[in-house]
Amino acid sequence: MLSLVSCVGRVVVLLAAVLVTTSITMSGEWGEEGVTYGQLGKDVTLTCAGVSPGSTATWQWNGAPALPEDSAVQQGQLFLPHAELSSEGLYSCHDASGLLLSSITLRLGRAPGLPSISCRASNYENFSCFWASSLETFLPTKYITTYRKKQLPGSENRRSPTSDVGLCVQDPAQPFSCTVSKSQFWSSYRMNVTEVNPLGSSFRLLDITVQAIIKPDPPEGLRVEPVPSAPRRLRVSWEYPSTWPKEPHFQLKFRLQYRPVIDNSWSVVETANVSEVITDAFMGLEHVVQVSARDFLDAGSWSEWSAEAWGVPATGLTAVPSEAATAAVESENPAEGPSLAPQNEPVAGRSDPTEKVAVLVSLGVFAFFVLAVILVFAFLMWVRVKKHSKEATKNHDLLAAAIHLKALPKAQIL
Ligand SMILES: *[C@@H]1O[C@H](CO)[C@@H](O)[C@H](O)[C@H]1NC(C)=O
Ligand SMILES: *[C@@H]1O[C@H](CO)[C@@H](O)[C@H](O)[C@H]1NC(C)=O
Repeated sequence: MLSLVSCVGRVVVLLAAVLVTTSITMSGEWGEEGVTYGQLGKDVTLTCAGVSPGSTATWQWNGAPALPEDSAVQQGQLFLPHAELSSEGLYSCHDASGLLLSSITLRLGRAPGLPSISCRASNYENFSCFWASSLETFLPTKYITTYRKKQLPGSENRRSPTSDVGLCVQDPAQPFSCTVSKSQFWSSYRMNVTEVNPLGSSFRLLDITVQAIIKPDPPEGLRVEPVPSAPRRLRVSWEYPSTWPKEPHFQLKFRLQYRPVIDNSWSVVETANVSEVITDAFMGLEHVVQVSARDFLDAGSWSEWSAEAWGVPATGLTAVPSEAATAAVESENPAEGPSLAPQNEPVAGRSDPTEKVAVLVSLGVFAFFVLAVILVFAFLMWVRVKKHSKEATKNHDLLAAAIHLKALPKAQIL
């Protein structure tokens, strides 16, 4: 066991020895002349250029004779074991008389890790890839972004699949992303993002097809308006995202989510139009609405939800909406393509079935009430009439008795 540990230890030492020689890169291509790059945590050795063999050199660090802890000077070379970020700086070596022989700026960092990549197409013409470094390297870094396009299996014979290599173009204004223009919807692409820094390079590949990564931007210009004389309706309209080129072959479909502001659960409807009438809004309540888009044939995924818009249904039941208001609502959608013309357009003055039912029910309730009042009245009348007739009968009996008395013979009375 012990021998195994010492063996592993020896291998580590050997590895470290190899790394000492590889941990230093001197490079002008990174725009920093005279800079030497060393690997963090590894042993770094600085060589004094210009020192004559056999003579000794002294070192200074940032203009002072104090050198980083643990450092050692051996035969004119400065040895920094397990270099840390704090050991960066300007090192200079001097001869015995203090004359400057050479100077080195030391920067420390790590070789690149594997970048992570994701790609997204906000339309079917171009797509973009985004990447992130997986490791803090502390060093200047650049990325080489290329792709190799693979034709569909059927079309491979016509063109050599190896010839379709291209650059994914980087825009300095948008770091960590690149764009492939004029992409082909049905082709697959092998993306290669290579992270390069003075200590090495590392690449990651990602296979994509445009139709799988398509994710439109959210629709724009969302508006929510009351429908005159319809207290349970809201008219919602929006526009295609400006990044989606309008072509008859590549349409979007939409889904709308809405809820009263005071409620937390959304209702969702899907539509192919750029407007929709909500028919089950809550009277008098403010509603919040959002819309999202997706390729009409379900390629890729839904866009993010748009910004929210708010609206309150019209209050009160005016019998006839004013002509002006109706005209205004209709003129907001001037001649869009016939396929985009909103269906379900409410006709002015026509109420919906639920409203009719409500009116019928309230009429019924009213009629019932009137009937009940009449019945109660009739009952009271009847009671009164009955009481009256009872009294009349009583009087009649007394009278009859009196007559009977009168009619009796005198002898009987006496
Ligand atoms: C696609 O990229 C090209 C070139 O960068 C650009 O001219 C075009 O407007 C882009 N298309 C869309 C729909 O963004
Ligand atoms: C990825 O790109 C880098 C830099 O261009 C290149 O060295 C590497 O070979 C590429 N990898 C593949 C698999 O094409």
